[in-house]
Amino acid sequence: MEAPVLYAALRTVRPESVVEVGVANGVSSYYILAALERNGNGGTLTSIDLPKYENDHTGEWDESAGAWIPTGRDVGWIVPDEYRDRWEMQIGNMNDLLPVELGSRGVDALVYDGPKRYSVRKRAFDTVAARVGGCLYFCDDIAWNVAFERFATENPLRWDTYGNTGVAVTLEV
Ligand SMILES: C[S@@+](CC[C@H](N)C(=O)[O-])C[C@H]1O[C@@H](n2cnc3c(N)ncnc32)[C@H](O)[C@@H]1O
Repeated sequence: MEAPVLYAALRTVRPESVVEVGVANGVSSYYILAALERNGNGGTLTSIDLPKYENDHTGEWDESAGAWIPTGRDVGWIVPDEYRDRWEMQIGNMNDLLPVELGSRGVDALVYDGPKRYSVRKRAFDTVAARVGGCLYFCDDIAWNVAFERFATENPLRWDTYGNTGVAVTLEV
């Protein structure tokens, strides 16, 4: 994830509600929470992760993970305590949790760094777009397939890429 771009966009748009898919050690969560803290408008982050731990590492590249959590650490361990009061963590499969999370409240920004498979990624973005009005979307590792590009061009969004990160924003935002 191009974290400085993520941070700068969140400082500019000042979302009240951010949903993140894919936490692992918590680098992107840290940037999101730091931006929300500095925004000072009570913004919250809900993160969804099905963590993979170093002990379970098979040695094979796993396109669903991309990051493993070191032995003795917990998911999101990098995030300092002072940022955690605005952070809700949901452990489980995003295919189950994301629709439930979106059903219960709106979201102003989606930060996606979860499974890279085309169908899973596309469905996640389509799910968010179908349920909310304006939204800011981030997707890491966009070069894996055209899921993000297709989503961004099928919807009324402005979008661009920064390194391997895609950013899209609803036109009326
Ligand atoms: C690339 S890592 C996230 C890295 C993180 N954004 C960062 O900046 O440090 C992807 C994470 O998605 C998790 N993941 C994979 N499949 C998932 C699924 N179906 N539901 C939820 N999380 C999943 C992985 O276990 C891993 O923790």
